[in-house]
Amino acid sequence: MRLRHLREADLDRLVELNADPGVMRFLDRRPPAREAVAAEIAELVAMGERHLGYGRFAAEDHRGAFLGWFGLIVTAEGPAAPSLGYRLCRAHWGKGLATEGGRALVDRAFTDLGAERVTAETMSVNTASRRVMEKCGLRYVRTFHQHFDDPLPGTEHGEVRYEITRQAWHRARTDLGRRTTA
Ligand SMILES: CC(C)(COP(=O)(O)OP(=O)(O)OC[C@H]1O[C@@H](n2cnc3c(N)ncnc32)[C@H](O)[C@@H]1OP(=O)(O)O)[C@@H](O)C(=O)NCCC(=O)NCCS
Repeated sequence: MRLRHLREADLDRLVELNADPGVMRFLDRRPPAREAVAAEIAELVAMGERHLGYGRFAAEDHRGAFLGWFGLIVTAEGPAAPSLGYRLCRAHWGKGLATEGGRALVDRAFTDLGAERVTAETMSVNTASRRVMEKCGLRYVRTFHQHFDDPLPGTEHGEVRYEITRQAWHRARTDLGRRTTA
């Protein structure tokens, strides 16, 4: 799998990805309008230009086929605490790709980008996403509740926040190094 910056020409791919109700199950009742997706891409491209190394990345296989996307997004917490996200086409679930891409972005955040922590949030009931966060080294921090006018099933269980700090990431790498050289 290869990650590259998302670009305006990816609009159809994103619209198609969002059109799958299985993909959107924990995100929205209906896919966002095409115009909204186009506006979001423009915003993300601008973010990537403002904050080099951050933004949203299209995931492709070795032939260039679109697999989905990963994000390392600058939020109100600033570039020192980016938010990790991912959304893959259903045909590519269950192959370890979310873990592979998520780990690559966590590593990049701490090596190239100088982040102090990486955060991630999802619905409490999104077990797959929570498992990916854990496999990328993030740990559960808290559950919180948000108001939605048209809440998805499971909203009553709240949203969860996960994090990994630079220190914890470094410790995990050092432990891994020790185990592989032992
Ligand atoms: C969440 C998502 C990215 C996972 O992608 P993936 O490539 O299938 O994940 P991986 O193959 O890396 O699996 C990671 C772990 O999650 C587990 N997992 C995957 N789907 C699961 C599910 N539905 N229930 C429980 N565990 C699940 C896997 O078994 C694996 O754990 P293991 O190695 O201990 O067995 C994918 O399902 C997706 O795109 N979902 C729709 C969008 C979404 O919900 N994004 C997150 C919003 S915050």
